[in-house]
Amino acid sequence: MGFYDERVLPRLLNVFMNTKAIREQRTQTLEHVNGDVLEIGFGSGLNLPHYPSTVTKIVGVDPSHTAAQLARKRIAASPFTVEFVGLSAEKIPVADASFDSVVTTFTLCTIPDVGNALREMHRALKPGGHLFFVEHGHADDPAVERWQQRLNGFQQKVFGGCHLDRRISQLIADAGFEIGHVHNSYLKGAPKFGGYLYRGVARRRH
Ligand SMILES: C[S@@+](CC[C@H](N)C(=O)[O-])C[C@H]1O[C@@H](n2cnc3c(N)ncnc32)[C@H](O)[C@@H]1O
Repeated sequence: MGFYDERVLPRLLNVFMNTKAIREQRTQTLEHVNGDVLEIGFGSGLNLPHYPSTVTKIVGVDPSHTAAQLARKRIAASPFTVEFVGLSAEKIPVADASFDSVVTTFTLCTIPDVGNALREMHRALKPGGHLFFVEHGHADDPAVERWQQRLNGFQQKVFGGCHLDRRISQLIADAGFEIGHVHNSYLKGAPKFGGYLYRGVARRRH
């Protein structure tokens, strides 16, 4: 990973991903998270202030060491135990069926082998446990979709491999989850090609 992706981008994301509109999305996504939580793409810990008191512990997975440093103060201020695992999500070193909740926010766009990562999240979740997510991805509007296709290569270069057009609900269902609900909307203040959101909950059946 080069200097920009490892040292600069995590600092930019720490600021860009902390707007009022995104904070509202975090609060709504995490409202019903409970128990032991596995957060994939933990980043600089921007979700931490939004977790409810029903959470007992968080294990955050993210390969970025700079993001981990930026997360330190938020981890120290957190009322529950937070463990950081500095690895990629395609192979997560946790036991099968060991978490009550899995969380992913604005991360499924970026993980290179997202199918494998989602299967790992499914494996780590207890039967009946839930995946809580808010992600941006493929927009239904053909005009927006065309812009997503045009800008995809540029987006991946500038934003650490971020894809604009992943079909989030389909990817989650393909990994074996039962989708509970998905709310689609455009993120306030963001360009439509990068702001088509999928916010929802999916369940591990068995
Ligand atoms: C746009 S940031 C979002 C960070 C955080 N989830 C948030 O909501 O602010 C995407 C995150 O995905 C992380 N990431 C990239 N590849 C990953 C992988 N293979 N496994 C886990 N996380 C990854 C990046 O390091 C970055 O922290």
